Amino acid sequence: MLRQALLSVSRNDSIRDVVSSTPISRDVVARFIAGDSMRDAVRVTGEIAGDGRLVTIDRLGEDTLDLAAAQATRDAYLALLTALDEKGLTHAAEVSVKLSAVGQALAGDGEKIAYEHAAQICERATEVGTTVTLDMEDHTTTDSTLGILRQLRADFPATGAVLQAYLHRTEADCRDLATAGSRVRLCKGAYAEPESVAYADTHEVDKAYVRCAKILLNGQGYPMLATHDPRLIAIGAALAGSAGREKKTYEFQMLFGVRPEEQSRLAAEGHRMRVYLPYGADWWGYMVRRMAEKPANLALFLRSLTSKS
Ligand code: FDA
Repeated sequence: MLRQALLSVSRNDSIRDVVSSTPISRDVVARFIAGDSMRDAVRVTGEIAGDGRLVTIDRLGEDTLDLAAAQATRDAYLALLTALDEKGLTHAAEVSVKLSAVGQALAGDGEKIAYEHAAQICERATEVGTTVTLDMEDHTTTDSTLGILRQLRADFPATGAVLQAYLHRTEADCRDLATAGSRVRLCKGAYAEPESVAYADTHEVDKAYVRCAKILLNGQGYPMLATHDPRLIAIGAALAGSAGREKKTYEFQMLFGVRPEEQSRLAAEGHRMRVYLPYGADWWGYMVRRMAEKPANLALFLRSLTSKS
């Protein structure tokens, strides 16, 4: 109930505008977000990479309804990739892109514009020796995002996809994408979805996650198991072992600020462990999804609104 209520608030423009204009405490920003600027993202990436973990960087922002903002997001990713290259970090860091931030939701030519912007980002990523993963948003965008992924992969085969275990369709999507060269991040799913398309029961979502992980790990692609759930991490490692996979042929992923000790433990055991690192000022949608996942984050956030720290 709380999760659904919070997620519906995330798309309420009036609430977003009021809360976003309130300065949030450095504690909340520093826990989940690298900072406001690209320089913050690159600095924190260097720290994480120095600790033996990998990174995927997300420039915060989504649901862009303005072409200039979509172009600015593309330009920010191009500058970020150049900065990662200059700092010698592209061996450890890639980028995650939300297609709705680069134009997918624009009326008329939105899909075409998003594809072109994403292709430019993929091209720069390829030039500097790294990759792009397309984040997955709510179910109304899934077909469009997978269609754009297919187009991008024709020229940039290492472009990654995200599949959400809570959607009924996802086992079939896993089978389609479990092919050689295909990078697929499997997560539970973070949006408010109707029961007609998604499992509502958390136990059903976990079972679906295991079924999907099995398909991906037994396939030919490169699975990226994105979860903080200790049971699913253990099951994922066991499934990888029984599929005969070496540790370099798949990876675990977690969000910046969530279970950092577990991240270090997995990296120390020789697993590839990638941290999803957001940066930027447009933190509202991202933070609301983190609060919906863990009510303790809501308490932390509410405290921060009343503190000046
Ligand atoms: P679950 O929510 O059951 O959490 C298991 C445990 O992990 C909790 O008990 C808690 O201890 C800890 N935990 C989980 N979330 C936490 C949080 N926010 N704060 C503190 N502790 C927390 N979703 C999506 O729809 N599209 C996408 O593109 C992505 N991309 C993505 C990338 C990466 C790298 C990750 C890790 C996740 C995503 N997600 C996502 C989000 C994902 O769908 C899901 O909402 C969260 O990962 C939470 O689900 P868990 O699998 O961690 O399990």
